[in-house]
Amino acid sequence: MVTSLHRRGPHLDPRELAGRFARVRGFTEALARPLSPEDCGLQSMPDASPTKWHLAHTTWFFEALVLGPGGEPPFDPAFGYLFNSYYEAIGPRHARPRRGMLSRPSFAEVLAYRADVDRRVISLLDRLADGRDDEIRSLVDLGLHHEQQHQELILTDIKHALGENPLHPAYRAAPRRPEPLPQPAPGRAELAWIDHPGGLCSIGHAGPGFAFDNEEPRHRVHLTPFRLADRLVTSGEVMEFIADRGYERPELWLSDGWAAARADGWGAPLYWEIGGGAPRIFSLDGLRPIDPCEPACHLSYYEADAIARWAGARLPTEAEWEVVAASAPLRGNFVESGLLHPRPAPPREGAPRQLFGDVWEWTASAYLPYPGYRAWEGAVGEYNGKFMSGQMVLRGGSCATPETHARATYRNFFPPGARWQFSGLRLARDA
Ligand SMILES: [Fe+2]
Repeated sequence: MVTSLHRRGPHLDPRELAGRFARVRGFTEALARPLSPEDCGLQSMPDASPTKWHLAHTTWFFEALVLGPGGEPPFDPAFGYLFNSYYEAIGPRHARPRRGMLSRPSFAEVLAYRADVDRRVISLLDRLADGRDDEIRSLVDLGLHHEQQHQELILTDIKHALGENPLHPAYRAAPRRPEPLPQPAPGRAELAWIDHPGGLCSIGHAGPGFAFDNEEPRHRVHLTPFRLADRLVTSGEVMEFIADRGYERPELWLSDGWAAARADGWGAPLYWEIGGGAPRIFSLDGLRPIDPCEPACHLSYYEADAIARWAGARLPTEAEWEVVAASAPLRGNFVESGLLHPRPAPPREGAPRQLFGDVWEWTASAYLPYPGYRAWEGAVGEYNGKFMSGQMVLRGGSCATPETHARATYRNFFPPGARWQFSGLRLARDA
């Protein structure tokens, strides 16, 4: 049995899809607008890609999967090699750690590539009439969700690149001011526990809405009773962890985490500056004071696990997170807020806060296939399934995630040592 990406095709209206295509593609370019061509070529580490590469790769995705199979010639035959990410079925590619070497094509040429593919995809959607209709609509839809993933990566990758600059430059000229909070600081950090009775529960995606193959099939899980913190762990709590010598106490750490912390000299979350004076964090608006009430961010799984252990708690499993999040409104601090930084929790209302947006939440769950998982058929089968080894699941989305890209069943995944994403944690306990 094959999980069908194309079953969603009949539910997609071509005109709605064309409008969404224009909006999503335009937003990607808007994210690059504050940057210089020099900024757009930077690659600060093998895991991060230059902005220019993201702009081209997302375009290649439409060209390779939507236009090419219909017989359309490529914009430039060399681009398939330069901008294929990891699709073995499509062909060989330029080495990922060397993406920063691509000074040619120029930024202007990449924008011309984008404009050409945009015009051809819109034209194709306008004249959908052949037997590939469902398949084309499904692949364009997938290409837009893929592009939204890269929108977040544009922000996290350029943050890392700018963070390497001793001048600590801001990504943009005029940051938006944080929204005023409705109550004074002391109350913002209050924490309550949400009790869940456990039992036989269901997680995973079902129905006609978009989901990646790794969110399916919906299936049952048995949970023992548990408690979930009603907000994210704050930077103030991580300051307490540091003051309590948390980074120096091996009994708090997983063995691999302790080794990583020693090898890389971790003494605080990534982007923190705590040597003398008030603690500061590098943000997309440059260095700023750390608000003790804001969610802790740029933590690896290893740090999140150690902080949870220090707090007398643990990380939630992805199933625990999802059964609580499934009934929560999909609201939060996403990229559309323009803050590009996590913000303190709103006042308590008796329901869990910050489940969506602000920071991705590390879970205790390894990134594995759900029971009955089948990868999509064809080249897109390489999208998720082949990465189900050595990575941990994160849930909920961040302040760099597009709101329409988030959902309760969404499974993000990163290696346990990764810190450059907007990643934090929420505590859980056995009831
Ligand atoms: Fe990609």
